[in-house]
Amino acid sequence: MNRAIQFKLKNGKVVTIRRVRAGDYDAMMKYLAKFSRDVGAVQTFRYPGEPKKDKEESMRFYESPDRCFIAAWDGDNIIGSASISKVMPKHPYCMGRVAGVGMSVLNKYTRNGLGSKFLQILEKWACENGVKKLKAGIRHKNIASIVNCIKHDFIITGIQYNELYIDGEWQHEYLLEKILEK
Ligand SMILES: CC(C)(COP(=O)(O)OP(=O)(O)OC[C@H]1O[C@@H](n2cnc3c(N)ncnc32)[C@H](O)[C@@H]1OP(=O)(O)O)[C@@H](O)C(=O)NCCC(=O)NCCS
Repeated sequence: MNRAIQFKLKNGKVVTIRRVRAGDYDAMMKYLAKFSRDVGAVQTFRYPGEPKKDKEESMRFYESPDRCFIAAWDGDNIIGSASISKVMPKHPYCMGRVAGVGMSVLNKYTRNGLGSKFLQILEKWACENGVKKLKAGIRHKNIASIVNCIKHDFIITGIQYNELYIDGEWQHEYLLEKILEK
């Protein structure tokens, strides 16, 4: 994605979706602090009170050519973000042909079409950047994310049992994939 786009949510509000750049570090940290207190955070690696991400490392992450990191803005505030990262882009056996996707949307903005739009944008970037397969790891109780991926033609290819221990309970992780090109 090279240009910012305006996207109309199902509730009528128009938000801006564009790539996250090094200069967005502060806005991104504000978003992550907010999201980590949100109900959906338990489905990701975010948690309340987590330390702030390193600035230099984050900026490199945002600007890496092997990745596309996007966010949706309501005015000056980020309300959701998504990324696609090539797996081992320099390794001769991989060459970034496989890429992992992930995303989050503030609870208040969910069920408005953003997660679906994010997946479309990430898939377009994948097709334009030599990625042949998308993959995602989703916690077994994360119905919203599993259904979103399946709606976009991902299939469940496996399950990893007891991957994470959250609030006294083991969480399993479904592995989902979408072949873009054989
Ligand atoms: C998963 C997540 C990104 C979805 O974002 P969203 O903006 O609500 O998604 P959309 O509104 O575009 O919904 C897309 C589709 O996903 C499915 N979906 C979304 N939320 C759902 C829910 N609560 N229950 C069942 N299906 C759901 C629906 O099929 C929906 O399409 P529809 O509205 O036309 O029926 C959001 O719920 C979230 O941020 N969750 C917490 C973080 C997370 O789980 N991240 C993914 C980790 S792998």
